[in-house]
Amino acid sequence: MKAAVLEAVGSPLVLAELAIDEPEPDEVLLRVAAAGVCHSDHNLYVGNLPGALPLVLGHEVSGVVERVGSNVGGLRVGDRVVTCPSGFCGRCRWCMSGHLHLCLDKNRTRLDGHQPRLTRDGEPVTPFVGLGGFAEQMLVHHSSVATVPAELPLDLAALLGCAVITGFGSVLNTARVRPGQTVAVIGCGGVGLNVVQAARYVGASRIIAVDRLSAKLARASAFGATDVVDAGATDPVQVVRELTGGGVDHAFEVVGRGTTIEQAFGMLGLRGTATVVGVARPDDRVTIPALALLSEKRLQGGQMGSSRFPLDVALLARLYLDGRIQLDALVSERIGLDDADTALRTMNDSTGARSVITFPGVLQ
Ligand code: APR
Ligand code: ZN
Ligand code: ZN
Repeated sequence: MKAAVLEAVGSPLVLAELAIDEPEPDEVLLRVAAAGVCHSDHNLYVGNLPGALPLVLGHEVSGVVERVGSNVGGLRVGDRVVTCPSGFCGRCRWCMSGHLHLCLDKNRTRLDGHQPRLTRDGEPVTPFVGLGGFAEQMLVHHSSVATVPAELPLDLAALLGCAVITGFGSVLNTARVRPGQTVAVIGCGGVGLNVVQAARYVGASRIIAVDRLSAKLARASAFGATDVVDAGATDPVQVVRELTGGGVDHAFEVVGRGTTIEQAFGMLGLRGTATVVGVARPDDRVTIPALALLSEKRLQGGQMGSSRFPLDVALLARLYLDGRIQLDALVSERIGLDDADTALRTMNDSTGARSVITFPGVLQ
């Protein structure tokens, strides 16, 4: 099967023919329908985060089940599914306490000594976070897969697996924004737009979108932002504090940099909470004024929107089908697998929301 392979950081993805193994008892073979290009793929592409090369990127994926392993219950050939980087074991203390996204064994790799899932000329190729969606097929652990209703178009469904579940979950689960609270969102790309629309969904009274590109801000307004702040033209901390008479209840950082995390903390009012959604470089650092903590401010991390993947995917799919959240306007372009490299290379200057790779001939 064909896949876009990252052979070296800084070099373009290469289209290559890979061998994909048969499913082990707990695995599922998928025919990929669509894969979103997310900033977390970009982190590996430019070397901000390490990965075992060669690597197949792509983790925000939809597809159709082609084969199931002998232990897999609840999934059948032909099922339409979404994948997520947070597979889970169901047995560790985090799973048992309902924090599936923090599972200690996300089932991203096969056991030592087993045949690799992907190979090229006999050499192993790593599927990113156990998925590797920039490819015609994927072989994944069944806990990384959630079914979606047949009425949901698969190119939209793919976005549920990362951008939507992370954005909504950060608001609903991690920060638990309440109706009437004020919210600032720094970074209005694919994930940030979902923080914006989740804040609208829970009834935030003020949703201030911050970005350095005007096209991103215009889109944020369409997703529910009540105010927009151009971070390239003004000091966003000062403007947000002025707009809210002293700071917001919740600030979300959806860029992945120490400096913007500091800005999120600086935007808080009394008892405010800054939630970090973005994934920063391992060497990045955050400095906050110690005395600000006297105002009962909090800075907290988050991962995958603190989601329980199968439950939350089902909920989000329902909300879309009931017309209560937007997915269509998140897709700025549909591209072929051979354009994945261009989408990654131009991501930081892109005015779009999400580029989605689709596969001609696969059921959408
Ligand atoms: N201030 C404000 N906005 C910024 C800044 C800045 N200094 N730098 C970048 N941005 C904006 C970009 O203009 C863009 O709109 O942040 C947005 C990032 O969006 P995407 O590139 O689409 O990234 P996305 O996929 O949404 O991921 C955002 O969340 O899941 C994590 O790893 C992911 O860290 C990444 C973050
Ligand atoms: Zn677990
Ligand atoms: Zn992602």
